[in-house]
Formats: sequence, structure tokens, C-alpha cells
Amino acid sequence: MLIFLDSANLEHIQSAARLGVVSGATTNPSLVAKGGGKGTYKEIVLSILDLLSGEVSVEVLSEERNSMIEEARDYSSWSPRIVVKIPPTWEGISAISILSQEGVKTNLTLCFSLNQALLGANAGVTYVSPFVGRLDDVGEDGMRLVADIVETFSRYNIQTRVIAASLRHPLHCVQAFKAGAHIATMPYEVLLKMVDHPLTTIGISRFMKDAQRII
Ligand code: G3P
Repeated sequence: MLIFLDSANLEHIQSAARLGVVSGATTNPSLVAKGGGKGTYKEIVLSILDLLSGEVSVEVLSEERNSMIEEARDYSSWSPRIVVKIPPTWEGISAISILSQEGVKTNLTLCFSLNQALLGANAGVTYVSPFVGRLDDVGEDGMRLVADIVETFSRYNIQTRVIAASLRHPLHCVQAFKAGAHIATMPYEVLLKMVDHPLTTIGISRFMKDAQRII
């Protein structure tokens, strides 16, 4: 079970990398725009690759099959650690079918149903990313989808890996691990909260106070 950072903020990625437990990153156009990094899309992605040793997902910006394929080929030429995010539209799944035959690693983003996940897997997608928080936002059970995908992929021995995405809080992470997701990708703020426990803070403070008496 791997932990990815869902961010394009270089300071956050650098800080998370120091923890030594973050294996990769996922980005999207909104995160790159929010990340505040200077430079082109490519320069920002290359900087992220420099900070982490694992894979970085980068999203296509076009919606038509051939343009997506061209974009994906370009992104994947930047580094063997690039994974191209493509949404489960008719055009997107068709693009994934071609790219998977060429060995381009892909990530089915904006996945909101088991049917989308199965179509992506049959097209040869490397990862599927069910968006948990966004399903919760509209009153559906996002984590149920993660569990359903994991269970169905396992039943049919499908090799596509499951990335639990759009995680909003530490309980989502716990639930994603329990549901059997292979990877949980999370914002920096959620990673910080995963470390935190008030009893750890209180315990350290007590030990430090008692240590004064024995030094
Ligand atoms: O990994 C997907 C993520 O970036 C979406 O998160 O919080 O915008 O739904 P959110």
C-alpha cells in the first residue's frame, strides 16, 4: 500500500519527500495552477520528478483522441516515471487502448463508476483513480466504489492498480487501506494530519517535562 502526494506544490512535495514514505505524486491542471510554481507545465513536472524517486501522474489537456495520444506520447518522453492521466470518456478510453499497446503508462482519472474502471482496465490502463471525496460530495459512497473496484479486479485477476483519490481527511486514508486500494494519493494537509495524534503530542510533552528532573 503506497502513499502518493496529490499536489503540484514544490515546497509541499519537498517537505513530504523528507518523510521518506511518499512514493510518487499525482497532479492535475487545477493542482498545477494552485501550486504557484514558476515555469511551464513541463518545467513544473520535471521539478516534481527531481524531488521524488517514484512516478508522477500528469493530466492531458485535450479532449479529442488523437490530441490526447500526441500529448501522452510527449509527456511520457519526458521521463519513464511519467504516468499520463486520461478521463474515462469515449475519446479517452479509445486513446488508452492505443497508448497501452505502445507501453505508455496511463491513469484513468475522474473515475466515478465500476463500469468506467472496467472499461479502462480492458483498454489496458495502468491505474484507475476513483475520486472518493467528489462522490461523497454528491451523496454517494466514494469508498464503496474503491472497494468494489478492488474486489472485482481481484476476482478477474486484472492487473490494473487502484489509486484512491480525492481523499479529504485521514479517515479516508484508513478506509482506503482497508478497502484494499494499492495506493492512496492525498493532499499535503491530509498527510500532516495522518502523522498527528493529540496523545502523541501530550506524551512527548510529559516525557520532556520528566526528563528535566533526571538530567
Ligand atoms: O486526485 C484527485 C484530486 O486532485 C481531486 O481532489 O479534492 O479536488 O476532489 P478534490
